[in-house]
Amino acid sequence: MRIALAAGDGIGPEIMAATLELFAAAGVSKLVEFVPVEMGEAIFARGNTRGMTDEAIRIVEDLGVLFKGPMATPTGGGGKSINVTARKMWSAYANYRHFRTLPGVVTPYSKAGINLDFAIVRENIEDTYGGIEHRLTNDVMVAKRIITAPGCDEVLRFAFETAKRMGIDTVHCSHKANIMKMTDGLFLERFRTMAAEYPGIAAPDVIVDALCMNLVMKPSQYKMVVLTNLQGDIVSDLAAGLVGGLGFAPSANIGRNISIFEAVHGTAPDIAGKGIANPTALVLSGLMMLRHIGLEKQAATLENALLVALEEGAHTGDFGDRSKPTLNTESFIKEIIARLGHEPKTVKPAPAGSSDRINYATPAKPETPLMMRTITDVKKEVAGMDVYVEAVHPAADTAVQMERLCASSPFHITLVSCRGMQVWPRGSAFTECVDYWRVRFELRDGRTATQADAITLLGHIAEHALVSEYELLRTFNGTRGWTLAQGQ
Ligand code: NAI
Repeated sequence: MRIALAAGDGIGPEIMAATLELFAAAGVSKLVEFVPVEMGEAIFARGNTRGMTDEAIRIVEDLGVLFKGPMATPTGGGGKSINVTARKMWSAYANYRHFRTLPGVVTPYSKAGINLDFAIVRENIEDTYGGIEHRLTNDVMVAKRIITAPGCDEVLRFAFETAKRMGIDTVHCSHKANIMKMTDGLFLERFRTMAAEYPGIAAPDVIVDALCMNLVMKPSQYKMVVLTNLQGDIVSDLAAGLVGGLGFAPSANIGRNISIFEAVHGTAPDIAGKGIANPTALVLSGLMMLRHIGLEKQAATLENALLVALEEGAHTGDFGDRSKPTLNTESFIKEIIARLGHEPKTVKPAPAGSSDRINYATPAKPETPLMMRTITDVKKEVAGMDVYVEAVHPAADTAVQMERLCASSPFHITLVSCRGMQVWPRGSAFTECVDYWRVRFELRDGRTATQADAITLLGHIAEHALVSEYELLRTFNGTRGWTLAQGQ
């Protein structure tokens, strides 16, 4: 089998070389050929804003599996994160991260005898990671948060199926649906719907802020938590902290066709080039990859050797028993290689698994991008529109102006809000405002309208006010497709 390989930037090449040396020692290179692809900082530097060559894209799409080191994201300028681009372009929708107490990695929990072993499944493509952001007025920036029913279903299906396969009896959904009623509300609703298909798995939910506290206070109550993208990103770094830091947090980005295996940590520019980085997270990510392609036995042998090395005190500078010598990346890997074939004594050895052969079919290239649909046969009716105008005069003045402008349209003005808080017709003098009003127009009694009617009114408004944004309000099978303003 061939696997695309991008060593990455910063510490990437050092930890990747060490990881491949270890894999070679366990005989993996006899079964897998790693095909180098050009991705990362050097490609950005050549003026390629994707950070990867066309040839790299072709190879990854042909092979279906990418093993990658961390890659730097250019700060400022227009360069987007190559990591996010790769996940999104290839629809690697589920980010699976496993956190566990490792021998030799001392944490407040290990000192208290608390053994941690849980997984976080993070939606990997949607949410604010579209990076769809705009400056709307002098003072206001917005980011779009996109949550879709098929996107929720893909990651939730992965979570439940993984839990079932691994014998995990509880999957928590974590969210902020109390505040983001439509976006996180959809994620929670899809979770509850899918949970009904898995009667053997308990499926409670927990609000994400409570989850953070619970993870710190009593982490062992969780076995698997599934979250939307940004919340999952933040919570999984918190989880990494519980088990000793980023050096021990592996991840798999799983998609229908293409999967990417990488450590959670970044390029660690502060220690790059010194040969002292901890390769454990990348090794653990590589083990996930070996299991993904069927090499379960090889993965178990490697994992056990790593556990024995850690148990016996092998450590790099970022962790471990200071009474034992600090190893550089290369010597740390040598310690693991020396223990191939050994089994740990203080922790349970990795399950051997049944397969030692490649069990992976490269993806067939779709002729056109897949169009996913989940909720169909919906009757939609135009009910109004929200128009966002840039203005600095009081809300009441905007309301009077807008009432005049919509006088001959099927719509009338029902509210003005600022930063989501109603300020007209009711409001508080204590509500601080900015130069960005949302004016809500709704159908007059007994009237119907089309999108064209809304746009006609919008065009009329645009002749008199500065429109910075517009959203159509529609009902879906009679249910409002928008939220009320606070205070409404
Ligand atoms: P970072 O994870 O690179 O470093 C944070 C801290 O952890 C540093 O003190 C670093 O020395 C330490 N650290 C990280 N990995 C280590 C390891 N294996 N061994 C020992 N110490 C380790 O995060 P930072 O500094 O915020 O990001 C640096 C760059 O990495 C940025 O350009 C960022 O965009 C990129 N990045 C890339 C990721 C990826 O490729 N998936 C993920 C996160 C960040």
